[in-house]
Amino acid sequence: MKAVVYTEYGPPDVLQLKEVERPAPQDNEILIRIHAGSVNVGDIWARNFREITPSRFTMPLPLWLPARMYFGVTRPRINILGNEFAGEVEEAGRDVKHFTKGDQVFGYRGQSMGANAEYLCMPEDGLVAIKPANMTYDEAATVPYGALTALSLLRKVNTLASVRGQKVLIHGASGSIGSAAVQLARYFGAEVTGVCSTPRLEFVRALGADKVIDYTREDFTKNGETYDLIFDILGKSSFSSCQNSLKQNGIYLLASFKMKQLFQMQWTSMTGGKKVICALSSESSDDLVFIKSLVEDGKIKSFIDKRYPLEKTAEAHRYVEKGCRTGSVIVTVEHKNKEDKL
Ligand SMILES: NC(=O)c1ccc[n+]([C@@H]2O[C@H](COP(=O)([O-])OP(=O)(O)OC[C@H]3O[C@@H](n4cnc5c(N)ncnc54)[C@H](OP(=O)(O)O)[C@@H]3O)[C@@H](O)[C@H]2O)c1
Repeated sequence: MKAVVYTEYGPPDVLQLKEVERPAPQDNEILIRIHAGSVNVGDIWARNFREITPSRFTMPLPLWLPARMYFGVTRPRINILGNEFAGEVEEAGRDVKHFTKGDQVFGYRGQSMGANAEYLCMPEDGLVAIKPANMTYDEAATVPYGALTALSLLRKVNTLASVRGQKVLIHGASGSIGSAAVQLARYFGAEVTGVCSTPRLEFVRALGADKVIDYTREDFTKNGETYDLIFDILGKSSFSSCQNSLKQNGIYLLASFKMKQLFQMQWTSMTGGKKVICALSSESSDDLVFIKSLVEDGKIKSFIDKRYPLEKTAEAHRYVEKGCRTGSVIVTVEHKNKEDKL
């Protein structure tokens, strides 16, 4: 099969279209013919993890070393990138009960990657589900990473039902996680303020945010508004600067954090009032099925900025690396049997 392979860390040019062996499904696996994948921040980091020094890593130091060892110390251990996908089941292992040849599926590979290829295998109990009926493969491939992560992180705060009627601010609202968090928080009944830069204000409005703040023009920590929850995806704000923007028992939730914020979490857990929560996502296949239902109910939408064919994956990386995308960047995989594609 064709796949975009990289065998050394480096700029997008390290990504080469090659002929590699097609994977064969184990008894509990399905073989998926991929129609679309995406390029997101995980791909960019993994492609050049050598450059992700502990200070650039947006997680605490104790997590950096295992991540470096996982991705490869001097050269990549994983050679095909792409962490989310949509495609069609080509073959099912003999023990597979819930999928059958021809099923249209979408899913998330996390750090295992592998979606920038014509085929991949997934265990049937992995993060794979029937694709939302109202989305094309391209659209469905943009959903899993952001939505699974945002849902999981929002759940770390409290039961999502308790978000109803609360004021929630999402900093980093235009990115993969933030754009899903805006839509999920709206779905759960929160009043949502999205913070982003000027070019993406309209995008964040279109996601359903009740209010948008352009951080290049306004500092949300100084406008006198207070929130029940401030969810900072990139950790660009600080707990001290957000204190006055949090209600009395408000929560400061971080998707990216360092040891300092972990100590703040520990400290605030022992005191009353405002809390810091640093959380790692824990995705589940039940969540993916739930997300599918939200998509089918029109509560989660897909916004595609650009599409690139598989052979131009390096170009897709260049574009994502510029940091100017509005919505998702898709890698499409053409198969000879074109009538199978929606
Ligand atoms: N905790 C977990 O389990 C977990 C899981 C996955 C990922 N993460 C973390 O999540 C982060 C990636 O999130 P993502 O995939 O949503 O990223 P993303 O898609 O790259 O989006 C990040 C957004 O941040 C905004 N931004 C960039 N520079 C900014 C700045 N200086 N100030 C404020 N906003 C800025 C950008 O939009 P604008 O230009 O519009 O501002 C961009 O849309 C990484 O740090 C990763 O470590 C955590």
